Amino acid sequence: MLISIIGFILETPSVPFTLGSAEETIQKQYPIDDGKRWVGGDWPLYGYTMTGMIRLELLEAALKDVVANNIPGHFLEAGVWRGGSSIFARAVWNVLGQHDRAVHLADSFSGLPPASTHDDRHIRWYVQGRTVCCNVPS
Ligand SMILES: C[S@@+](CC[C@H](N)C(=O)[O-])C[C@H]1O[C@@H](n2cnc3c(N)ncnc32)[C@H](O)[C@@H]1O
Repeated sequence: MLISIIGFILETPSVPFTLGSAEETIQKQYPIDDGKRWVGGDWPLYGYTMTGMIRLELLEAALKDVVANNIPGHFLEAGVWRGGSSIFARAVWNVLGQHDRAVHLADSFSGLPPASTHDDRHIRWYVQGRTVCCNVPS
Protein backbone atom coordinates (compact mmCIF):
# COMPACT_ATOMS: atom_id res chain seq x y z
CA MET A 1 0.00 0.00 0.00
CA LEU A 2 2.78 2.45 0.93
CA ILE A 3 4.58 2.23 -2.39
CA SER A 4 1.27 2.79 -4.12
CA ILE A 5 0.16 5.96 -2.30
CA ILE A 6 3.56 7.66 -2.65
CA GLY A 7 3.42 7.04 -6.40
CA PHE A 8 6.42 4.71 -6.31
CA ILE A 9 4.94 1.52 -7.70
CA LEU A 10 3.93 3.12 -11.01
CA GLU A 11 6.95 5.46 -10.98
CA THR A 12 4.69 8.46 -11.44
CA PRO A 13 6.81 11.45 -12.51
CA SER A 14 7.69 14.40 -10.26
CA VAL A 15 6.34 17.91 -10.73
CA PRO A 16 7.88 21.21 -9.61
CA PHE A 17 7.07 22.73 -6.18
CA THR A 18 4.82 25.37 -7.71
CA LEU A 19 1.11 25.98 -7.76
CA GLY A 20 0.61 26.55 -11.49
CA SER A 21 -2.37 25.37 -13.49
CA ALA A 22 -2.90 21.64 -14.04
CA GLU A 23 -1.79 22.03 -17.69
CA GLU A 24 1.42 23.84 -16.70
CA THR A 25 2.14 21.27 -14.00
CA ILE A 26 1.77 18.31 -16.35
CA GLN A 27 4.02 19.96 -18.96
CA LYS A 28 6.82 20.47 -16.42
CA GLN A 29 6.93 16.90 -15.11
CA TYR A 30 10.28 15.10 -14.86
CA PRO A 31 11.26 11.45 -14.20
CA ILE A 32 11.01 10.05 -10.69
CA ASP A 33 14.11 10.23 -8.49
CA ASP A 34 13.75 7.14 -6.27
CA GLY A 35 15.80 8.64 -3.43
CA LYS A 36 13.76 11.83 -3.32
CA ARG A 37 10.47 9.98 -3.49
CA TRP A 38 11.53 7.73 -0.61
CA VAL A 39 12.21 10.67 1.73
CA GLY A 40 9.30 12.84 0.60
CA GLY A 41 11.57 15.15 -1.36
CA ASP A 42 9.38 15.63 -4.41
CA TRP A 43 5.76 16.12 -5.48
CA PRO A 44 4.44 13.05 -7.31
CA LEU A 45 2.29 13.84 -10.34
CA TYR A 46 -0.33 11.20 -9.46
CA GLY A 47 0.59 10.02 -5.95
CA TYR A 48 -1.78 10.56 -3.02
CA THR A 49 0.83 11.96 -0.66
CA MET A 50 4.10 13.89 -0.86
CA THR A 51 5.12 12.55 2.57
CA GLY A 52 7.41 9.76 1.34
CA MET A 53 8.05 6.28 2.64
CA ILE A 54 10.15 7.11 5.70
CA ARG A 55 7.67 9.55 7.22
CA LEU A 56 4.77 7.20 6.50
CA GLU A 57 6.63 4.46 8.36
CA LEU A 58 7.07 6.87 11.28
CA LEU A 59 3.35 7.63 11.14
CA GLU A 60 2.59 3.90 11.28
CA ALA A 61 4.91 3.48 14.26
CA ALA A 62 3.25 6.41 16.06
CA LEU A 63 -0.24 4.97 15.49
CA LYS A 64 0.88 1.54 16.71
CA ASP A 65 2.46 3.14 19.78
CA VAL A 66 -0.82 4.89 20.60
CA VAL A 67 -2.66 1.57 20.45
CA ALA A 68 0.00 -0.40 22.34
CA ASN A 69 -0.11 2.13 25.18
CA ASN A 70 -3.91 2.41 25.24
CA ILE A 71 -3.80 6.14 24.57
CA PRO A 72 -7.33 7.34 23.81
CA GLY A 73 -8.14 9.65 20.93
CA HIS A 74 -8.41 10.05 17.20
CA PHE A 75 -6.17 11.08 14.29
CA LEU A 76 -6.18 14.55 12.72
CA GLU A 77 -4.01 15.59 9.78
CA ALA A 78 -3.70 19.36 9.36
CA GLY A 79 -2.76 20.03 5.74
CA VAL A 80 -3.66 16.91 3.80
CA TRP A 81 -2.90 17.77 0.13
CA ARG A 82 -4.41 14.70 -1.66
CA GLY A 83 -5.18 12.83 1.55
CA GLY A 84 -2.76 9.92 1.21
CA SER A 85 -1.38 10.13 4.74
CA SER A 86 -4.87 10.09 6.21
CA ILE A 87 -5.91 7.24 3.90
CA PHE A 88 -2.91 5.35 5.25
CA ALA A 89 -3.75 6.26 8.86
CA ARG A 90 -7.30 4.92 8.37
CA ALA A 91 -5.85 1.69 6.97
CA VAL A 92 -3.51 1.28 9.95
CA TRP A 93 -6.36 1.90 12.41
CA ASN A 94 -8.46 -0.70 10.56
CA VAL A 95 -5.71 -3.33 10.56
CA LEU A 96 -5.27 -2.76 14.30
CA GLY A 97 -9.04 -3.13 14.87
CA GLN A 98 -9.36 0.53 15.90
CA HIS A 99 -12.73 1.05 14.20
CA ASP A 100 -13.95 3.50 16.86
CA ARG A 101 -11.07 5.89 16.24
CA ALA A 102 -11.85 8.61 13.70
CA VAL A 103 -9.58 10.12 11.06
CA HIS A 104 -10.14 13.86 10.54
CA LEU A 105 -8.74 15.79 7.58
CA ALA A 106 -8.26 19.58 7.55
CA ASP A 107 -6.97 21.81 4.76
CA SER A 108 -7.39 25.36 3.47
CA PHE A 109 -6.81 24.09 -0.10
CA SER A 110 -5.59 27.61 -0.82
CA GLY A 111 -2.12 27.80 0.71
CA LEU A 112 -0.87 29.49 3.84
CA PRO A 113 -2.60 32.74 4.87
CA PRO A 114 -0.41 35.80 5.59
CA ALA A 115 1.05 36.00 9.11
CA SER A 116 -1.31 37.87 11.42
CA THR A 117 0.49 37.73 14.77
CA HIS A 118 4.05 38.26 16.02
CA ASP A 119 4.40 34.51 16.68
CA ASP A 120 3.32 33.67 13.13
CA ARG A 121 6.10 35.82 11.70
CA HIS A 122 8.92 34.73 14.00
CA ILE A 123 8.37 31.01 14.44
CA ARG A 124 11.51 29.02 13.57
CA TRP A 125 11.47 25.36 12.49
CA TYR A 126 14.51 23.11 12.72
CA VAL A 127 15.37 19.40 12.69
CA GLN A 128 17.03 17.76 15.69
CA GLY A 129 17.90 14.12 15.03
CA ARG A 130 14.65 12.61 13.77
CA THR A 131 12.45 15.28 15.37
CA VAL A 132 11.06 18.45 13.82
CA CYS A 133 11.06 21.22 16.46
CA CYS A 134 9.90 24.82 16.55
CA ASN A 135 10.81 27.91 18.55
CA VAL A 136 7.99 30.32 19.28
CA PRO A 137 9.38 33.55 20.74
CA SER A 138 7.69 34.73 23.92
C1 LIG B 1 3.03 20.02 2.48
S1 LIG B 1 1.33 19.85 2.03
C2 LIG B 1 0.77 18.56 3.05
C3 LIG B 1 1.19 17.20 2.58
C4 LIG B 1 0.34 16.11 3.15
N1 LIG B 1 0.43 16.03 4.60
C5 LIG B 1 0.71 14.77 2.52
O1 LIG B 1 0.67 13.75 3.22
O2 LIG B 1 0.97 14.73 1.33
C6 LIG B 1 0.59 21.25 2.85
C7 LIG B 1 -0.92 21.27 2.82
O3 LIG B 1 -1.34 22.21 3.82
C8 LIG B 1 -2.37 23.01 3.30
N2 LIG B 1 -2.35 24.29 4.04
C9 LIG B 1 -1.44 25.27 3.96
N3 LIG B 1 -1.73 26.26 4.80
C10 LIG B 1 -2.84 25.90 5.47
C11 LIG B 1 -3.62 26.51 6.51
N4 LIG B 1 -3.30 27.69 7.00
N5 LIG B 1 -4.69 25.85 6.97
C12 LIG B 1 -5.00 24.63 6.47
N6 LIG B 1 -4.32 24.00 5.49
C13 LIG B 1 -3.24 24.63 5.00
C14 LIG B 1 -2.11 23.11 1.82
O4 LIG B 1 -3.30 23.38 1.10
C15 LIG B 1 -1.53 21.71 1.52
O5 LIG B 1 -2.56 20.82 1.13
